Amino acid sequence: MQIYKVGGAVRDRLLGKPVTDIDWVVVGATTEEMLAKGFRPVGADFPVFLHPKSGEEYALARTERKSGRGYGGFTFHASTEVTLEEDLIRRDLTINAMAEDDQQNLTDPYHGQRDLEARLLRHVSPAFAEDPLRVLRVARFAARYAGLGFTVAPETLELMRQLSESGELEALTAERSWKEISRALMEDQPQVFIEVLRECGALKVLMPEVDALFGVPQPEAHHPEIDTGVHTLSVLEQAAQHKQSLTVRWACLLHDLGKGLTPEEEWPRHIAHEHKGLKLIKAVNERFKAPKDCQELALLVGEYHTHGHRALELKPSTLLELLQSFDIYRRPQRFEEFIAACEMDARGRKGLEQRSYPQADYLRGAANAARTVAVQPLLEKGFKGPELGEAIKRERLKVLKTYKEKA
Ligand code: CTP
Repeated sequence: MQIYKVGGAVRDRLLGKPVTDIDWVVVGATTEEMLAKGFRPVGADFPVFLHPKSGEEYALARTERKSGRGYGGFTFHASTEVTLEEDLIRRDLTINAMAEDDQQNLTDPYHGQRDLEARLLRHVSPAFAEDPLRVLRVARFAARYAGLGFTVAPETLELMRQLSESGELEALTAERSWKEISRALMEDQPQVFIEVLRECGALKVLMPEVDALFGVPQPEAHHPEIDTGVHTLSVLEQAAQHKQSLTVRWACLLHDLGKGLTPEEEWPRHIAHEHKGLKLIKAVNERFKAPKDCQELALLVGEYHTHGHRALELKPSTLLELLQSFDIYRRPQRFEEFIAACEMDARGRKGLEQRSYPQADYLRGAANAARTVAVQPLLEKGFKGPELGEAIKRERLKVLKTYKEKA
């Protein structure tokens, strides 16, 4: 049997990037030979094994053919006859379809190295269309390597467009899609992921609520970039530049969905978009089964981001309601993430990227002030049950009034 390093490990070594995961392909071996060498089979579906010591993935060279919709509809063929070239041709991108032996001799039948130099994400063959998840993968690689100057080859974009129009994307499971989306959002330029999806028509299928924001104007006084879609991309860009968490980035992407629902005659104003957007945020959250912390923060940021911006003008009672909604006493981290998302929203505007955001410290200060109210003295005064709750609120309100006067 011959063993080759394949995929991302070869690509990233040639790019001079750190290699974390190594995938291997084994040519000329049978399942029985692999088991005899102590490899552990990964699952019943594919001829993939884990190395007994390193735990790295070793796959028998295989060909694949699509036999139905979605990812389940696959038949594959692995035998000692399948060549390295046959295995590589079923892969997604030329830059992912190179193999290397233990002497670092490169096998590159589809010119991955040439495309690395040309900074092109190009599909290997029409077999690309056999897995619709690749539309998201290409957009994710575009987001990751945009800084190096990579773009999607026009013919690949065309194929992605056809796949998006064919209805195949609807067959993707929430889990597979979320894995790509969440990884893409954590790349250096997550806005490129959304841009590429939009360009090939996949955004309209996957997140029509985000797609609908493009072409929707906002008041120029607050939004020099005017377009709500452009604004959303800038907010995401800011979130990446400030190294925000996945939860914050997800909330940034969804915070203004309500603006896509404003009737044209009301443009460029978007009265109550925060509240109107909640059902859309909920729908996107559920479509991809986003983790609970992402879902929660996206809804809270959607509902309260304008409160964040107006923090210094809020009445103490409104400020208290805001703090209560976030349960800042038990969930301090979540409130910090809200503040971060608001700040990214404020900076994700043309020419305002460097502005200061005094609201952040003001909100933190208010939360700290509210937290100083101690429960014990109120218990000692005999308050209990709902009355205790009211008494705590009254005390917190007092503290917030003083806080606002002094600020
Ligand atoms: N692959 C593919 N189509 C997919 C998934 C994977 O063709 N839908 C192939 C590609 O050749 C890819 C390899 O399998 O390089 C390994 O896949 P994976 O580990 O998911 O990606 P990497 O390319 O290693 O990239 P990453 O750095 O994102 O892990």
